[in-house]
Amino acid sequence: MNAIEIRNLSKSFRGMYAVDHLNMTVPVGAIYGFIGENGSGKSTTEKLICGHLVPDEGEIKLFGRDYTDPGVRVRVGALIENAGCFPGSSVYQNLRMQTINLGLENPDEEIRRVLEIVRMEDNAHLKFKSCSLGMKQRIGIAMALLGDPALLILDEPINGLDTDGMRIMREILVDITQKYGCTVLISSHILGELEKIATHYGIIRQGKMIMELSAAEMDSRAQVFVSLKVRDMQGAKAVLKANFDTIKEEEGYLRVYDVDDTAANVELLMKNGHAPSEIKKNKIGLEEYYIELMSQTETEKEEK
Ligand SMILES: Nc1ncnc2c1ncn2[C@@H]1O[C@H](COP(=O)(O)OP(=O)(O)O)[C@@H](O)[C@H]1O
Ligand SMILES: [Mg+2]
Repeated sequence: MNAIEIRNLSKSFRGMYAVDHLNMTVPVGAIYGFIGENGSGKSTTEKLICGHLVPDEGEIKLFGRDYTDPGVRVRVGALIENAGCFPGSSVYQNLRMQTINLGLENPDEEIRRVLEIVRMEDNAHLKFKSCSLGMKQRIGIAMALLGDPALLILDEPINGLDTDGMRIMREILVDITQKYGCTVLISSHILGELEKIATHYGIIRQGKMIMELSAAEMDSRAQVFVSLKVRDMQGAKAVLKANFDTIKEEEGYLRVYDVDDTAANVELLMKNGHAPSEIKKNKIGLEEYYIELMSQTETEKEEK
């Protein structure tokens, strides 16, 4: 079953599409990385799913049911833009108010549960305004987790966090999916961080979903290359070019693409008097894949 299934979803503001006939499929249990530049329509899509905005057209299904179904709405928790907390109230008081809004039974137990998930069980007494950005983001997630949702929607929760804050956030998100079986939709443009946890990706551009793929598919598509450092770059490049299809010069290294056999490169270069001083086997990461994909779609657009 899919946690989210979107078909042909559109939303425009002043005659401009923010979300343009978008399709999206998020399997149950996924950490779905929703990737796109600023203004590409990520937040609008998330607000539509949460019912904060009304779509112009299209269909949104959550766990196989229409998203307006009251039974399914209570299973969605979200953190979009900010936590919506009262700055002068404590973390506990903010969470307590939310349990009242949601009409939860056993509120103290539930508050303890969510604070533990976001690693803030010792900070319940702090005033919201005196918390760091990383803590505020985690409180926002705790608020969204009240009532034990099956789907959590997070809008750029790692923006502005330091390395340590990002690591904690990563651990929390993995816990949420693995321990609590919650599906997570997370938008971000910090691809290196997303890559460490996402099981699926959706890439949005100008309101359109241009690609969806699983982390396994991403991995199998990621090109393997060997990078080499040699004294005579141009000479070595000529030798390699005669034998391999794709050679690129990048940041002082020669890259030989789509070869798994590192020894073949070295042997060839040695035979021709270009002993490499450095040699590494690499795989293209999400960041590079994304940039490549974006430049391809840019070229396609220009050709039209
Ligand atoms: N309430 C609004 N009124 C007018 N335009 C909006 C509104 N919300 C978003 N937009 C526009 O829709 C587009 C997509 O925005 P958004 O969904 O916020 O993108 P992202 O979250 O990917 O940065 C942008 O061009 C933005 O200016
Ligand atoms: Mg946004």
